[in-house]
Amino acid sequence: MSKQLQRAGDRLRVALVTGACSGIGRALALRLGSLGYELILVSNRPAELAAAAQEIGAAHSVAVHTIASDLARPEAAEELYQSVLGKDLQVDILVSNAGFFFFGEAVDAALPRANAMLQLHVVTPSLLCTCFGRDMRERGRGHVLIVSSISAWRDFPGISYYGASKKYLRGFARSLRSEMGVYGVNVTCLAPGPTATNLYDPEVVPVKRAKRLGIMMDAATVAEAGLRAMFAGRAEHIPGLLARAMTLLSVLVPQWAIDLLRRRAPWLPKRGGSP
Ligand SMILES: NC(=O)c1ccc[n+]([C@@H]2O[C@H](COP(=O)([O-])OP(=O)(O)OC[C@H]3O[C@@H](n4cnc5c(N)ncnc54)[C@H](OP(=O)(O)O)[C@@H]3O)[C@@H](O)[C@H]2O)c1
Repeated sequence: MSKQLQRAGDRLRVALVTGACSGIGRALALRLGSLGYELILVSNRPAELAAAAQEIGAAHSVAVHTIASDLARPEAAEELYQSVLGKDLQVDILVSNAGFFFFGEAVDAALPRANAMLQLHVVTPSLLCTCFGRDMRERGRGHVLIVSSISAWRDFPGISYYGASKKYLRGFARSLRSEMGVYGVNVTCLAPGPTATNLYDPEVVPVKRAKRLGIMMDAATVAEAGLRAMFAGRAEHIPGLLARAMTLLSVLVPQWAIDLLRRRAPWLPKRGGSP
């Protein structure tokens, strides 16, 4: 049996989780709460955020703060940093998890949606790492967990914006890790495979069935594996054997096979957005 996940000492007290009101982020927050961390939960929808905070606070008797913010805005990271300072809190564990997904050819993307994805997956996480990471470096301790995806390992048609932004996050996490390691701050990249959450439109992706068949993992398992990797100081982690096998396969498969699949597979989006 694997060892029980434990708190990383008493010097780290506060964890901030973005995208904490559902899916993997909510599961990460719940687990961090169970380990006794005071929490700052951030996401876009105030009512869902309040519900998550209520659930976690009641389950684990920890202080839970909420900050509702649309993180897909250029000024979001700076605003969030200032709100945290305003609450007189210092972040010891930064979990950058908020994200969304869409299928479709890049040239069909609605510009505001594409822009939001780049802000949410690229700009805001990077700037949050700069703001909170600077303070962690000053204190000589802390953890940063950056949620990327197995799609960061290969370029796939139909997810140009998503895949490339997750690739950016993986690269950013790696270089940040080597910068911060010398100051005693750990940076881990969590790269989930298919996970049963609200990320996917259930009309398009049969999430429940995929979970039943074991193709999709549940968010709690992914969160547990991610925190385990983070507290162990690992550089990156792909939870689950199937996701690891999918990643290996995606690296090995020749480009012509991906192009052929892109032309033939009925479920891949084509011109105009529909499969
Ligand atoms: N599910 C998978 O198969 C999978 C695989 C690989 C990687 N991931 C990554 O895992 C992360 C979590 O996704 P999930 O699967 O848990 O999906 P999810 O249940 O849809 O959770 C996404 C979270 O991000 C938040 N969010 C989205 N847009 C936001 C915005 N503009 N401002 C602030 N918060 C925003 C959402 O909050 P609101 O609802 O309040 O907007 C929600 O809490 C994402 O980065 C995703 O790319 C997921």
